[in-house]
Amino acid sequence: MTTTSRDALTRLWPLFGLRLATPRLIMRPLCDDDLAELVDLAVLGIHDAATMPFMQPWTDAPREELVENTLRHHWRSRAASVPGAWSVHFAVRSKGALMGTQEISGTDFAVTRTVGTGSWLGLAHQGQGLGTEMRCAVVDFAFDHLKAIRAESAAFEDNPASLAVSAKVGYVPNGDRVVQRRPGEAAVDQRLLVTPATFRKPAWSVQVAGLDACRGSFGL
Ligand SMILES: CC(C)(COP(=O)(O)OP(=O)(O)OC[C@H]1O[C@@H](n2cnc3c(N)ncnc32)[C@H](O)[C@@H]1OP(=O)(O)O)[C@@H](O)C(=O)NCCC(=O)NCCS
Repeated sequence: MTTTSRDALTRLWPLFGLRLATPRLIMRPLCDDDLAELVDLAVLGIHDAATMPFMQPWTDAPREELVENTLRHHWRSRAASVPGAWSVHFAVRSKGALMGTQEISGTDFAVTRTVGTGSWLGLAHQGQGLGTEMRCAVVDFAFDHLKAIRAESAAFEDNPASLAVSAKVGYVPNGDRVVQRRPGEAAVDQRLLVTPATFRKPAWSVQVAGLDACRGSFGL
């Protein structure tokens, strides 16, 4: 999708016009033009094969399945997002290059004022503070622009990077549960919660463009 066709679609699908900016990152809802680059990043690797940070162990799939599943997942979730149960996957770019994706979701948001998040970065882009920056961006966006009052997340107890990001952003533990993440493998899923009172807002504020046209997509 060229910029021109994104612009053309934005007229019909206003979410494509949303844009978040942080000191190092530009985040826009994933469009088809991002998908080949995203799949390439996923194929290059997101985590050590010995671990599994995701609730659905999608990165265990062989390459061909991983490619197809990743495309299907993004087409499906974009198409399934409705004002009462929305989900936006941002393509996260630094200096034009795709780093990974940051999701934000909400159900009955106008009433619950609660968002959830999920994210990943290509292995080469981890450990440079980008995960913290993109999570701060969507939490700041949720609290300051969508007027959310809670942002929830979760990570397995053996995912120190994700737990460290949550702690740095101001999340506090919010209970845990045991789930099966791979066939026959139990894991403790640590739930986390941040509110405007605990949010450790960075020195910068997220810069938001294009929200007025797509407020309806967030159930507002
Ligand atoms: C989770 C993820 C998005 C975090 O992004 P990131 O850019 O690597 O994170 P940051 O660099 O902003 O911060 C990582 C923090 O974790 C800490 N960390 C990383 N590995 C750690 C370890 N083994 N033990 C303790 N702390 C660790 C880092 O020290 C850093 O904290 P610091 O800045 O206080 O030093 C990224 O690592 C990732 O994509 N992981 C694989 C997919 C994943 O786990 N997704 C989340 C599923 S819940």
